[in-house]
Amino acid sequence: MAKTTTKDTPAAPKAPAAKKASTSKAAAQASSNGQDGQASSNGQSAPSVQPVLNQQFNAPAPLQRYGTVSQRLPIGIDTNTRQESVEMLNQMLADTCSIRDMYKKHHWQVVGPTFYQLHLLYDKHYEEQDALIDMIAERIQILGGVAVAMAADIAEVTSIPRPPRDREEAPIQVSRLLEAHQIILKNCHDFAKKAADSGDDGTNDLIVSNVMRTNEMQVWFVSEHVVDTPLARAE
Ligand SMILES: [Fe+2]
Repeated sequence: MAKTTTKDTPAAPKAPAAKKASTSKAAAQASSNGQDGQASSNGQSAPSVQPVLNQQFNAPAPLQRYGTVSQRLPIGIDTNTRQESVEMLNQMLADTCSIRDMYKKHHWQVVGPTFYQLHLLYDKHYEEQDALIDMIAERIQILGGVAVAMAADIAEVTSIPRPPRDREEAPIQVSRLLEAHQIILKNCHDFAKKAADSGDDGTNDLIVSNVMRTNEMQVWFVSEHVVDTPLARAE
């Protein structure tokens, strides 16, 4: 049996050095955070309670890139179907984020004789769109995709025209909302059919039962505000 020598196992002596380097890195990190470890009365260092901050500046590769899908969850749907559904749902998510935020903008800025009812109605619709957003995003994650999330990314993906920052008259607000609903509802019909044809019944159900029905109901409630009827005396 061959005798094991230090020469045969060069990696062994290096282990403490590696640990030392790691310790030095941690110390440097703690120092850069402005809080060095405290020495106890017996001269030994106490465990640090310093959170490890600023790790985003030296981040490894992301866990999953946007635009890709994984087969991580066993839900009986093939990769191509997942990919198609995730792309459709991210479009629907971005458009739903846009109309949700348009409702809040108009909730704040509405003015005129219908202020009170529109102020309340806009906020109700905002809450309903916000609930849809969570359903759509979580469906994307279940399918193995990555949900678009941040406002700057939403702005790049959405197909809903950007309203001005200015305060506008109530009928203009309503017109912008109805335009946005129409864009979403047209996509609902298209995406629901594609999801049904590819066998993604869960996505089809989400689009028809939740997104489509909610948007249709909101179209009704908003549209009736721009029917030009007499307020007090019949003509
Ligand atoms: Fe409010």
